[in-house]
Amino acid sequence: MHKIVLFAFIFCYSLQVNAVIKSSTNVDSLLSVMTLDEKIGQMTQMCFSTITLDGSKSLDLNVDNFKQLIKQQHIGSFLSGSDSYAKWFDFVTAIQKVAVEETRLGIPLIIGIDHVHGANYINEGTIFPHNLMMACSFDKTLIEKVAKVTAIETAPVGLSWNFSPVLDVARTPYWPRFYETFGEDSRVCAELGSAYIKAYQYVPEIAPYKLSACAKHFIGYSDPKYGYDRSPSEIPMQTLHEVFMPPFRKAFEAGVKTLMVNSGELNGEPVHGSKFLLDTLLRRQLGFNGVIVTDIKDIERIVKMHHTAANEKEATLQVINAGVDMYMACNSYTFIQHVKELLSEGKLSMAQIDASVRRILQLKKELGLFENPYPSKKLLDAVNTTENRKVALEAAEKSIVLLKNEDILPLDKSKKLLIAGIGANSKRMLNGPWSFDWLGAAEAQQPQNMLTLFEACKSTFGTNNVLLSKTERILSPADKKQFLKDTRKADVIVLAVGEQPYSEFMGNINDLTLDADQLELIDAAIATKKPVVLVLMEGRPRVITKQAAGVKAVLFAGYPGIEGAQAIANILSGKTNPSASLAFSYPLAAGHTIPYNHKPSEFNIYWKPEPAQKWLYPFGHGLSYTQFEYSDLQLSDTIITPNGTLKASVKIKNAGKIRGTETALWYIKDEVGSISRPVKSLKFFEKIDLNSGEEKTIHFEINPQQHLAFPDKAGLYRLEPGRYQLIIDNKSLWFSLNN
Ligand code: BGC
Repeated sequence: MHKIVLFAFIFCYSLQVNAVIKSSTNVDSLLSVMTLDEKIGQMTQMCFSTITLDGSKSLDLNVDNFKQLIKQQHIGSFLSGSDSYAKWFDFVTAIQKVAVEETRLGIPLIIGIDHVHGANYINEGTIFPHNLMMACSFDKTLIEKVAKVTAIETAPVGLSWNFSPVLDVARTPYWPRFYETFGEDSRVCAELGSAYIKAYQYVPEIAPYKLSACAKHFIGYSDPKYGYDRSPSEIPMQTLHEVFMPPFRKAFEAGVKTLMVNSGELNGEPVHGSKFLLDTLLRRQLGFNGVIVTDIKDIERIVKMHHTAANEKEATLQVINAGVDMYMACNSYTFIQHVKELLSEGKLSMAQIDASVRRILQLKKELGLFENPYPSKKLLDAVNTTENRKVALEAAEKSIVLLKNEDILPLDKSKKLLIAGIGANSKRMLNGPWSFDWLGAAEAQQPQNMLTLFEACKSTFGTNNVLLSKTERILSPADKKQFLKDTRKADVIVLAVGEQPYSEFMGNINDLTLDADQLELIDAAIATKKPVVLVLMEGRPRVITKQAAGVKAVLFAGYPGIEGAQAIANILSGKTNPSASLAFSYPLAAGHTIPYNHKPSEFNIYWKPEPAQKWLYPFGHGLSYTQFEYSDLQLSDTIITPNGTLKASVKIKNAGKIRGTETALWYIKDEVGSISRPVKSLKFFEKIDLNSGEEKTIHFEINPQQHLAFPDKAGLYRLEPGRYQLIIDNKSLWFSLNN
């Protein structure tokens, strides 16, 4: 009799469970039938290296390991991996099949990937410039195109969670993640970051699939006190709200579904363990209701690096109490056990666990994973296409900044060029880090179908006009001798110098000055008296002040991606007119790095005359092969009220001989504030295309709440009556805000 009752119970229960799964989109019903193990599994994210055959990033599934893992630990999410489309396709299909068809509840996995500049972990992916360079384009439309291609090349293999964009505002160029950001201005980071988010999360072309963006890394990561990655930040709360928070606020307005936490500590607290930062500020004050994921292995870091918990169990308690939903455990299972123990000890409540699991299931539901867990062959037609490559070329061309040009560019096509330096014949230097590998794949693993700078110059200027020097650096007198010999046949020397790709802490440095052996190469080239063109391939502005004075032209290319070489060659030849502007300040000296919107100092009032130069190249600087003239700056009134608006306009004329694109940057300076104000702040930017001789009037509508208000230390915005100065190019006008 008992057996019959038990059987009937199990039968009914499994019917109920099946019904729940069939109607799968009902998150609460699903939650109600989940066991504790199944719930904690959903909160755990593992690295693919735990289920691949040799523990590597190549996608060869260790089926037994995986089945055991999913059945015993109920893991709900995985990340990382790098391989071809074919391998991704089979791998994701296989793991989703087990998750959906062989587990009790059939909950699909959600797979996270760092596609931070295109589909950079797929061998055939289109690699775009890194964010810092994209920011130099100041072009939201371009960013939307890049994000769309990224989504189109990511979604077909079942990757639905992109750990992008980085929304950290880069305030120190020493920080080795500088190139992952949109530069030093919060408005630029906010506008361009949210353009990525909106585009990633809404791509009808990938229907029925969807992609979730991830706003990272909340918060205060990008101004580490010692410059090293993940070293502590000390940021006053007012500055946190004014400088670092706006990109996250804008991301929330844009509907970002997930957020990743900063691994470092802020004002004495590891952010992962901070109830104040994650719960009070992020959840309650800013109203973020999406999934919060930790950064990789950060429970471990709380113990080993921050030392604010004696062991991982205590750290787990801190992190969950702070508000984290998912732990990016990567390769450790202790989290699961610790959560169970903390629950049984009454230190964590089931309500906390349920809240996190509900958010994770809701995310899976919104991404359509329950209905479409498997990759789609159909969508593979749209990956790796000529069209996508065109977007990569456009992105590189529009983000390479011409910093100096003394009557040398565009290059005369009859001249013989010598290409030298670490970037002369390297694909790795173009694609940069986070390309097929975290540190950037080795040269031999780079795509066949891309050109190096030397190759692109040959096809642009003619094979006989371009020579390659094997000298990358001058490490010995023999190197110098060889290099000088190579220069003899050349009319112009193009030096591609910079930084070998690096990621995170692997890029920590003690000196921002470019390596001595590369500076020596530049000096040797200058000493030949032949014109020298510098192409900077680097992730942050390495100091080159003395050498920049001796060369004829300087281009900042950063890591420009798979079409980067062709884009540089097009700019050198004049096929493309450069249009980008610096989204960061290029420092003059290694010991003095200062953003454009710094606060005033004695320097400004007592140092007379002011030093002629604070930066080698200032924020917003970028030359073109044509010239733009600004005139007739006007304001619709000299007075504005809190709920009113003012219309500003200015004329821009292309006074040169060819078509060009100008970046118009509108700044406002607040004369007096109850909290000290920056010397000026960027309020609006726009790209303007102009034919030779053409003039356009451009407009900016000043809205006090958006452009004049600033936050206090509690994050509450205040608007203060007083005088403000509107600045564009070298023109300015004053106006007053009245009550
Ligand atoms: C980085 C994150 C990245 C994560 C997963 C971490 O080391 O800080 O930005 O998303 O790894 O790869």
